[in-house]
Amino acid sequence: MPLDQSLDQLLRWYMDAGVDEAIGEKPLDRFALSAKPAAAAARPVQAPADRAAAPPLAPAHAPAAGHAIPGTAAHIAAECRTLEELRRAMEGFDALPLKRTARSTVFADGNAEAEVMVVGEAPGAEEDRHGLPFIGKSGKLLDRMLASIGLDRDSVYITNVVPWRPVENRKPTPDEVAVCLPFVTRHIDLVDPRLLILLGGAAASALLARHEGINRLRGRWFDYSAPGLPRPIPAMATFHPAYLLRTPAAKREAWRDLLQVRKRLESGH
Ligand code: URA
Repeated sequence: MPLDQSLDQLLRWYMDAGVDEAIGEKPLDRFALSAKPAAAAARPVQAPADRAAAPPLAPAHAPAAGHAIPGTAAHIAAECRTLEELRRAMEGFDALPLKRTARSTVFADGNAEAEVMVVGEAPGAEEDRHGLPFIGKSGKLLDRMLASIGLDRDSVYITNVVPWRPVENRKPTPDEVAVCLPFVTRHIDLVDPRLLILLGGAAASALLARHEGINRLRGRWFDYSAPGLPRPIPAMATFHPAYLLRTPAAKREAWRDLLQVRKRLESGH
C-alpha cells in the first residue's frame, strides 16, 4: 500500500477511536506518571473534577525573589511591587531575542482595578506598533465578545503571556513562553482580579500548567493559584479571537464560555 494511503488509514483509525487532537510531540506513558504521586501533588492548578489528569508542564508561577537566580525573569518579576515597576522591569529586560526584534513591550490595556483580567498570547504587528494589546483584527473581535457579556476596556484588564511580538506573527515557542511566564504571573499577582479569561491554548496551558489543548481546556472553570495571591482565582479558558476569525463555527462555543463568565460575575462567587 502506498505510504500516503496507509497514513490516511491510520489517521482515520485514530479518529474512529475518538483521538481528535494531538496534545504533544512525543508519546507520554501515563501509567508511569500515575505511579509518581509527588508529581501530581506538585501541580499548581487543577480542575476539581479532573485531578487525575496530566501533570504540569512547568511551574505556573515565579519563585520568591530570594529563591530565584539574579538577572532571570523570575528574580526580576518577584522584586516588582507595583504594576509600574513591573512595566519598567519588562521594558529593561534584554535576555530574550524577541525583545530585541520587537518595537514595543506590550504591557497591558484596560482598567487595572477591573474584576476581570484577560490574558492572550502575544502581540501582533498593530499591537507592536502602538504598544497596546488586542487592537488589531483579533482585538476588534475581542471587544465584540466582551460587549456580548456587558464588558468593555473599562471593565476588564488585558495583557498577554508574551509581551513582545514574535516576528512574522508566528506563535511564541514554548521556551519563549517559559521565559516570560514569571512576568505574566507577577502581573496577575499585582492585579489580583476576581476572574481570569485565558484566550487560546498558549495562555491556557502556560497559566494552568496543563498539557491538554484548548479544545479540552475551554469551557471549564479552573482554580489559578500562585504564592503571591491571597486565594485562587477562577479561570475560564476559551478560544482565541484569531482562531475564531479563521473558524467562525467555533464562535458558538466561545460565546457559551463567556456566558459562564457572565453568570459567575452575576452570582458574586
Ligand atoms: N493576539 C494576542 O494574543 N494578543 C494581542 O495582543 C493581539 C493578538
